[in-house]
Amino acid sequence: MDNKAKINAAKGALEYILEDLKENTVIGLGSGTTVQEFIKLLGEEVKKGLKVICVTTSYASRMMAIENGILVTDTDAVDKIDIAIDGADKANKIALLKGGGGALTREKIIDYNSDKFIVIVDESKLIQDDTLEGIVNMEVLPFAAPIVMKQLKEYNTKLRVGKGKLGPIVSDNGNFLLECYMRLENPAETEKWLKSIPGIIENGIFTKFSSIIVGTEKDWYKFV
Ligand code: A5P
Repeated sequence: MDNKAKINAAKGALEYILEDLKENTVIGLGSGTTVQEFIKLLGEEVKKGLKVICVTTSYASRMMAIENGILVTDTDAVDKIDIAIDGADKANKIALLKGGGGALTREKIIDYNSDKFIVIVDESKLIQDDTLEGIVNMEVLPFAAPIVMKQLKEYNTKLRVGKGKLGPIVSDNGNFLLECYMRLENPAETEKWLKSIPGIIENGIFTKFSSIIVGTEKDWYKFV
């Protein structure tokens, strides 16, 4: 997609939080290509002397943070997460669709358990309408996948299969990923309903966040 806009979203988030970053502030790093831009920029600040600690939502983000000189630790080594920065596949004022990179479970754990959760998106992800429509990703226990797929048949539910790997993709947590298609009139209710189905570990509908920073070709702005 548009890389300049992703970079601007990442820049915007960094500018927005920079004043609040104190020594040992704990930052939750989301996953995806927009977050990768944020990790690069944060790495530059670390090189200039900024001292923060990060927890990550995927092996990909963890490896990239380490490559960029950022101190990374585990969730059990921090008292709390001060700020989480994460991308989204689609966003409107009330909800996000996430999980295109398959990291939705760790993302929800980190994002929902942060004091502030800041979403960064390029403007192509933004939906002005209150109704979100698109792919709802889910992480499921492999044992439960066929049962869950039957249960959610009316939403065109599919097992995510690999490119460069035969068969199902296995998440960082050792589970399968399902994709279904939904039109969400009430995202919070659907998030809760999917969460209540045995075998679904987490779903990619996110309804709790503090702000959305949008990157454009030239600049960034705060949408929420
Ligand atoms: C990862 O599982 C996702 O939730 C990403 O945060 C989301 O797909 C956005 O990714 P991009 O920034 O690559 O579009």
